[in-house]
Amino acid sequence: MNEIVLEGRNLSRFYEVGGGMLRKAATVKALNGADFTLEAGRTLAVVGESGCGKSTLARLVTMIEEPTGGEILLDGRPVMRADKRLRHAIQIVFQNPYGSLNPRQKIGYILEEPLLLNTDDSPAERRSKAEAMMQRVGLRPEHYDRYPHMFSGGQRQRIAIARALMLRPRILVLDEPVSALDLSIQAQVLNILVDLQEEFGLAYLFISHDLSVVRHIADDILVMYLGKPVEYGSAKEVFANPRHPYTAALISATPVADPDRKHARIQLQGEIPSPLAPPPGCPFHPRCWKAQQKCRETEPLLAGEAHKTACHFPIEPGERTGG
Ligand SMILES: Nc1ncnc2c1ncn2[C@@H]1O[C@H](COP(=O)(O)OP(=O)(O)O)[C@@H](O)[C@H]1O
Ligand SMILES: [Mg+2]
Repeated sequence: MNEIVLEGRNLSRFYEVGGGMLRKAATVKALNGADFTLEAGRTLAVVGESGCGKSTLARLVTMIEEPTGGEILLDGRPVMRADKRLRHAIQIVFQNPYGSLNPRQKIGYILEEPLLLNTDDSPAERRSKAEAMMQRVGLRPEHYDRYPHMFSGGQRQRIAIARALMLRPRILVLDEPVSALDLSIQAQVLNILVDLQEEFGLAYLFISHDLSVVRHIADDILVMYLGKPVEYGSAKEVFANPRHPYTAALISATPVADPDRKHARIQLQGEIPSPLAPPPGCPFHPRCWKAQQKCRETEPLLAGEAHKTACHFPIEPGERTGG
């Protein structure tokens, strides 16, 4: 086991909404008690449908926002809002690189700015580091003087990744980094991320709503539903033997052939409930084909040894699922 670089303990973020003239104030539990660990050089994937709290988790671990409950540990020590360790240890890449790249700045400046603000590097040092990083992410030297709008989506995401790495962080939070890209481009960017991880020994917190994207790059997987982890384990275990019905449904929805047809496609019933009014008991029970009375009444806790699940009736290895 590698050393643990990042840890979330009972991490939560609640939002108060409404409370105007017409609506009653209410609480959105965007993230409601997440525990996880990220080891140096490894990839933890956080997956789940839109609205389950993935981006909230990303904003908390980078302290873009403060948690309303629980804590984050960096190298085993609790992180505070203005913690100087953060900027040098953790950087984030968002889904839409256009929004995070200033359209009026040239690529060279975009890459050098973190060095300008945070180091004593000379202009020549900054330039040579920027050029080296451009090469590593597959950009050409002449791109140095171009503006973001002159690039394709995939190239812009390479620029965002290069910028995030300029201060040589040890942890990269990637919030749906390839979701806005065409399939063929997704694979290119994922390959670059794999190479960079090896070269720099980076730890990735890799967020995606798409399990087929994380399949080849995740070491561990945290599956979220309505702000809560429902399954957590090694990617190998989770894909081979999903224990939570929600995880099994997500996996069955990925376009991967299932040669032995053990798992028929699982059609999830209904929509994700509103986070303003989560169902009682297990939050997944209204959509679950295994739900029983206990599931409607009592909320299951995340339990287990290496491979954990929050389910009263987890799927057993070899159990047939779906229709
Ligand atoms: N600033 C906010 N105010 C109120 N609700 C929010 C805020 N940010 C996120 N939420 C709500 O929290 C839930 C989780 O959102 P988010 O973390 O963006 O999910 P994901 O990234 O998995 O799609 C959603 O229901 C969302 O509407
Ligand atoms: Mg999101």
